[in-house]
Amino acid sequence: MLKVGLVGLGFMGRMHLTNYRRLEQEGFPIRVTAICDLDEKKFRGIFIEGNIQSADSGIDLSGCSHYTDYDKMLAEEEFDIIDIAMPSNLHAEMTVKAMDRGIHVLCEKPMALSTAEGRRMIEAEKRSGKKLMIAQVLRFWPEYEYLKETVDSGRYGQVLSAHFFRGGHPPKWTYNDWMIRTETSGGGLYDLHIHDIDMVNWLFGKPQSVSTLARDVIPGSSYDIISTNYVYPDRKIVSSQCDRSLTGEFGFEMSFRVNFERGNLLFEKRVLRDNPMEGKGFVPDVSKDSGYYREIKYYVEAILHNRPIERASSEDTLRTLAIAEAEARSATAGGAIVDIA
Ligand SMILES: NC(=O)c1ccc[n+]([C@@H]2O[C@H](COP(=O)([O-])OP(=O)(O)OC[C@H]3O[C@@H](n4cnc5c(N)ncnc54)[C@H](O)[C@@H]3O)[C@@H](O)[C@H]2O)c1
Repeated sequence: MLKVGLVGLGFMGRMHLTNYRRLEQEGFPIRVTAICDLDEKKFRGIFIEGNIQSADSGIDLSGCSHYTDYDKMLAEEEFDIIDIAMPSNLHAEMTVKAMDRGIHVLCEKPMALSTAEGRRMIEAEKRSGKKLMIAQVLRFWPEYEYLKETVDSGRYGQVLSAHFFRGGHPPKWTYNDWMIRTETSGGGLYDLHIHDIDMVNWLFGKPQSVSTLARDVIPGSSYDIISTNYVYPDRKIVSSQCDRSLTGEFGFEMSFRVNFERGNLLFEKRVLRDNPMEGKGFVPDVSKDSGYYREIKYYVEAILHNRPIERASSEDTLRTLAIAEAEARSATAGGAIVDIA
């Protein structure tokens, strides 16, 4: 049986826990045997809801040990997997500690807040020979997976243009507002926009250069509104926008529009539409399982069957960080075109 140590019982930690429990019920030889969170009231079931409702707030926390100190948990228990759902500034350090103890690590996005930290994580992965995966969940989200298959199969020809959007309320649920503060989250660029940066990287590979405009809106935060153009040698027009300052009844939205030579795909308000150049558009039949469930299942199966992590490898998510760094440099320079190393 694989023993999992879950680090973080906030919004995303509970999402992961819900999905490990589901896998266990489905007969996978896996169990969360310990949970660490420094905020003790989480162990009493006192939570604040996040931006996507599918974690179970009424989750049963019995049957596993509870820790408020990560080092103590690592010292006292044996694990096969450490799952890190922590503020982003802690990802690198916690990943390296677990991997240096010979433990596989599933770490939430963003991989880290700099490529230097990301490289340290990859060095630890290589030293340990264990599997590191970064939970870039869109790579497992059924509608985005359909898009990836459409791009890779070439069934509608080449991509002519692509636009991605993501936005919602300022994130108000996190511990000590870590997600708002730039030093702990990297601002909206590393926290929210990183999903679409990673999607651009996954679909089209590293762009030649980027040009980014950004604004700070939320006090103490940065990059709350971002608009980026990605330059590719084949001249496809690729852009993305992110806005985490949308208030009132906006809620949360992620969307894309990708135009191919012989059709287009639209994802808006949680509905995917496939519009061939000729004939009627349709709503494709995609998996009803959440991206979170599919991502964790993929990782667990990779460990159980000793398969390589191909879908969200650490080397590839490091490229996502390199694009993020170029976007930050471009934003500082007022939208200047910045080449990506
Ligand atoms: N993929 C997605 O859709 C998505 C959505 C939200 C968050 N996330 C990611 O999940 C991670 C966690 O975000 P969240 O929304 O759950 O935040 P959160 O604030 O709800 O949870 C973080 C938890 O970490 C605990 N914590 C903080 N410092 C700690 C420490 N030193 N030791 C032990 N516990 C500590 C806090 O008490 C809190 O319970 C982040 O990396 C974030 O980027 C991903």
